[in-house]
Amino acid sequence: MVDRKLPEHAAPNLDASPPEPSAIARTRTYFERHGASATVREIVYGLLRKRAEPRSDAMSRRFDEENQVRTDGRIFLSDMSVVAASTDQSMWYEPAPINVIPNVLHKLKASYDGYTFIDLGSGLGRVVLQASQFNFEKIVGVEFAENLYRQAVENLHRYPRHKQKCRNVELLCTDVRAFEFPETDSVIFIYDAFKAELLQSIVERLRASHLACPRKIYLVYLNPDQRNNPIPIIEGSGFLFKKEIFGFMEHVLYYRNNMHRVVVYETT
Ligand SMILES: C[S@@+](CC[C@H](N)C(=O)[O-])C[C@H]1O[C@@H](n2cnc3c(N)ncnc32)[C@H](O)[C@@H]1O
Repeated sequence: MVDRKLPEHAAPNLDASPPEPSAIARTRTYFERHGASATVREIVYGLLRKRAEPRSDAMSRRFDEENQVRTDGRIFLSDMSVVAASTDQSMWYEPAPINVIPNVLHKLKASYDGYTFIDLGSGLGRVVLQASQFNFEKIVGVEFAENLYRQAVENLHRYPRHKQKCRNVELLCTDVRAFEFPETDSVIFIYDAFKAELLQSIVERLRASHLACPRKIYLVYLNPDQRNNPIPIIEGSGFLFKKEIFGFMEHVLYYRNNMHRVVVYETT
């Protein structure tokens, strides 16, 4: 998630997250860690991302209007009624940009027959609604904030049925720590929902589940570049391997339409 102007209905809460470092400080840190060419590349992506931002915001509002749902805007942790013991490993709510799920799911596979789609940290359910346009066997959303979960349930009721190829949708109001992965082929989606320690434990549980029941799993991770830095955790797991779905122009093509990078991993 990036630091952006808040939509009017989002309640800003300055206590909810530490202040972001300035752009210059972030660039300097990035340069020290990754070197000159990676820094230039990130600056170019940043400019493309800035261009995509207004279009993405407009599409987001249009999605809600057209479907009579409410998924837009940010909701901070302090405005959530959470069913977990703590929120210190959690990120706030911000919906995935509209293009992400259609782009990725069209590229990933021709058919999702027999597959379960799982959104870990499903918020107001935008991604769940979009995934229901594909022929999944089942779709599951896991969200620990009761007020967001309730709005997601209402969104699901309102979402036009004729758009849904999959109507077997289950929304769970639970901490991701209590969620048990189904032993089916799966596409798992995470949009920057968890900090490192929690992500590590999720990936470890997924690895154990895969060891007990080997199956095809795709992990789609949106926005891996920010401070939670999930790539070493996912790649260090030893059972998820990167899959290039947009080819060598992956980042440029992606940033033209979206604001964040997406990475896809798969089991062998
Ligand atoms: C960045 S939002 C992503 C929302 C949604 N996946 C999307 O892309 O539109 C992250 C979500 O994860 C939820 N979340 C954070 N920690 C969680 C936890 N421990 N268990 C379940 N949900 C959690 C937050 O409440 C928030 O709704």
